[in-house]
Order: sequence, then C-alpha cells, then structure tokens
Amino acid sequence: MSATTTTRLVEHVQRLGEEHPPLRLDDVDFTVRDPRTLEQRYGHVLDYMARVELEVDRNVLELTTMLPDPPEVDVFFYRDVWQPQEIQHGRILDELQVRLGRSNADADLDSVGAKLKVLGALAHLGAFQDVVRMLYYVTGMATERSAVLAYNLLHDGVREMGETAIADTVIAPIKRQEPGHYAFYQLSARGLWAELAPWQKWLVRLLRRISFSPVGANNPEQLADFGDVMRTLHIDEDSDFAAQIARVEMELLWARDKGLPVPTYVTAAFREALELARARSAA
Ligand SMILES: [Fe+2]
Ligand SMILES: [Fe+2]
Repeated sequence: MSATTTTRLVEHVQRLGEEHPPLRLDDVDFTVRDPRTLEQRYGHVLDYMARVELEVDRNVLELTTMLPDPPEVDVFFYRDVWQPQEIQHGRILDELQVRLGRSNADADLDSVGAKLKVLGALAHLGAFQDVVRMLYYVTGMATERSAVLAYNLLHDGVREMGETAIADTVIAPIKRQEPGHYAFYQLSARGLWAELAPWQKWLVRLLRRISFSPVGANNPEQLADFGDVMRTLHIDEDSDFAAQIARVEMELLWARDKGLPVPTYVTAAFREALELARARSAA
C-alpha cells in the first residue's frame, strides 16, 4: 500500500472514531405506536440485521485467522472503530426485536469455518496474504454497501408507518455509521488492487467467484432469510441493489467484462435467495 494511501486511511479511521462514537442504548427512544404491525412487517428484517451486526465478534475472529499479519491500520480500524460500532448496532436492533415480543437473534459468535483456516494458513506467505486481504476488502465493500442500502429502505418503510421514534433514534443513527465503513474498504481495495501482480488478481477473481454470498448468508436457510428480507424491502431481481453493492468490485476485478452491470455470481446468489424464500413460504 502506498504511503499516501496509508496516511489517508489512518486519517479516515481517526475521524470515524472521533465523529462516530459507538451508539448507546440509553440514547434510543424505543417508543412504538403499533408493535404488532411493526413486528409483522419488519420483525424478520430486524432479526436478520441484528444477527449480522452481532456476528461482528465472529468476523473479528475470522479476520485474525485469515490475516495472521495484518497492516496496522486494518487492526486500528476493526478493533477500535468497526467492532465497537457494529456490536452496538446489533444490541440496539436486538433490544428492539425483543421489545416487539420476538426472541433474541441467534448469532453465531465463534465458529470459524475450515475454508478460512486454510486461507489463514496460506496467508503466512506474504504474497498470498495480499490475496486474502483483497478478498476481505471486496467482501467489506459489498457488506457495508448492502447495509447502507438496506437501512435506507428500512428507515423509509418504518417512517411511512408513522414509527418515527424507531426511524429517528434506532435506524437513522445506525445507518449514518455505515458509509464510513464502506469508505474504509473502498480506499483499501483500490490501494491494494493497484499493487497486486497478475497472478494475485487472477486468484482474487477466482476465489471471489466461488465464495460470494450475500451479507450474513452462510447456509441455505440464512440465504432464504436473506430472500425474505429482499422481498420485504422490495429488492427484486431487477432492482439496482446488486449493481450498487458490486459497483467498485465490478470496476476493479472485472473491468474487462464491459457491458455487464453486475458480476454473474452476485446476480445468481440474489436470484437463489429469492427462490429459496419463495419455496419456503409456499411449503
Ligand atoms: Fe452496522
Ligand atoms: Fe458497517
């Protein structure tokens, strides 16, 4: 990573830390006018988001497994800014769903998959660690962009129901913290991509294509849950949600495939999520 990029990243992370302290449950107004309707309409969306946010603790374990020797600024970001913010997003959303009469999110906080352990073992070789880092940044971009877009849709939906306390003191503050995460990954991805050798880029493309999944979907059931979230938020196959989450990934990794707005593995995964959700609700 060039010295200029590293300096910009450090400044960015410092600013995020200063301008966005972790949200506090005490600052939230959990007043709900119509808990039944809110639960029926958006309960499963809150649950999905709470789970994904709370799983930040597993994500940190995955990171330390995958990247045995990370750059200092990455550690600064995930330890001092990202994890403390995301965990509060999870706690607040989980508290809201419990107040709506639902169970706590079933978050997986500590299982690191075998595939990541293999990546981590290989990453002891410096050149391979850069491949893994690139995958981490690309995944981070898609994840954070998904969060921004989904929170926007959820915010508008909740506001339209007249649940202004929830829209203004739960969802709006959370969604304001996501673009800074996205910016960190985007800056990192652009900086690193420019330095990778052709074989490393080739390997990034290959591994990304075979490992992509929508945020928080680690098995078929969670993929169906994601499909339900898509349906509730009116994200269908034709919406530009997929194009937006993969815009920079498309530009960096697949610049040669001109004409395609979205990588095919993204479109396919979204289609599968919707199919699984429809099949499950029909059954
Ligand atoms: Fe978050
Ligand atoms: Fe985030």
